[in-house]
Amino acid sequence: MPHPYVLLSAAVSLDGYLDDTGPDRLLLSSPADFDRVDEVRASVDAILIGAGTIRADNPRLLVNSAERRAARLAAGKPEYPLKVTVSGSGDLDPEANFWHTGGDKVVYTTDKGAERAEAHGLAADVVSLGADLDWHRLLADLTARGVDRLMVEGGGRIHTQLLQLGLADELQLVLAPLFVGTPEAPRLFGPGGYQAGRLRLTETRQIEDVVLMRYEPTAPGTGPRATPADHHWLRLACELATLCPPSRTAFSVGAVVVAADGTELARGHSREGDDPVVHAEEAALAKVDPNDPRLASATVYSSLEPCARRASRPAPCARLILDAGVRRVVTAWREPDTFVAAADGNGLLAAQGVDVVVLPEYEERAKAPNKHLLS
Ligand SMILES: NC(=O)c1ccc[n+]([C@@H]2O[C@H](COP(=O)([O-])OP(=O)(O)OC[C@H]3O[C@@H](n4cnc5c(N)ncnc54)[C@H](OP(=O)(O)O)[C@@H]3O)[C@@H](O)[C@H]2O)c1
Ligand SMILES: [Zn+2]
Repeated sequence: MPHPYVLLSAAVSLDGYLDDTGPDRLLLSSPADFDRVDEVRASVDAILIGAGTIRADNPRLLVNSAERRAARLAAGKPEYPLKVTVSGSGDLDPEANFWHTGGDKVVYTTDKGAERAEAHGLAADVVSLGADLDWHRLLADLTARGVDRLMVEGGGRIHTQLLQLGLADELQLVLAPLFVGTPEAPRLFGPGGYQAGRLRLTETRQIEDVVLMRYEPTAPGTGPRATPADHHWLRLACELATLCPPSRTAFSVGAVVVAADGTELARGHSREGDDPVVHAEEAALAKVDPNDPRLASATVYSSLEPCARRASRPAPCARLILDAGVRRVVTAWREPDTFVAAADGNGLLAAQGVDVVVLPEYEERAKAPNKHLLS
């Protein structure tokens, strides 16, 4: 299912809260940062907030700058981005500012919520996503409405789900120099399962007394980018890892290179043949003609994250993959720091624009032939 680019935007206190518990909205950003947010809003096709934020803050979600609105019109876009909200209950106040300002509105809800929402007579399209709120369907529906870029302005329940589902492409986080100190106040991210490993920091910027940090999740998990075929090939890569001659000083890894049409181009595993140090991805790529035009749209499947540094050869596998022109990597297990500290082959690949997908459900299989190395 095609999805828009999803940009999460939020401001937090130094102790990680989105708001206090008072009746008015807590102003976390600074004036210049509110203007930056206005600019981001002007650059997107739609802005989404949760029903909780409509209730708590009663926001308008406008593009305030007349010049930015004029530029949108000149570019053939609507004056304001589409306004989107999400509600399970359908219990939405028809008097809220959200419905009476700015561009077109869409409410995504459930079968149950749709009845309530319709009864409120909201000035909006009400779309039911079934018995439960299905985020993949929501994003696909936005794509069908012509939304290529979606800005998500909270609140915490919304941000948490999009990040945990691996559906966020970018996080713009503003850190404000104040404390909230109330445990009941809403937090940006709730408990639950997040991507393994670190996000990639792409920018920091001081704006008056706040700091903007931009991050990209590097491990989209079971997000939309995994295809059914990915499971087949990654399982095969994990099986190949079991063929490696055992070693006390290196991981056992399997890899497969697969063309976009599903043709296997090559496979390999660590220390195969009579090469005592060869890595799986290296062994597999060595079997493909470097001029094979199918490499540009091929996927490398590797049971372990491709290495970012190695002593035994001049180029690590992440570099070999980039040099081969491969733009997509699917892996099961992020490299632990057994041999190399903070190895981040996935980050290195993603920084060069490679689409990196991690399927953690295969991590145990990838680890199985390496049990003797993991304490
Ligand atoms: N500092 C910032 O940048 C910032 C930005 C935005 C918001 N905030 C703050 O965040 C707070 C609100 O956050 P919040 O987490 O309470 O609310 P929220 O995330 O805005 O909205 C949560 C609501 O969305 C609906 N929803 C979300 N996921 C759903 C799902 N999977 N299934 C069904 N319904 C779902 C539910 O609506 P129903 O209840 O209708 O079922 C739920 O109550 C406010 O205090 C606001 O000031 C701060
Ligand atoms: Zn390697």
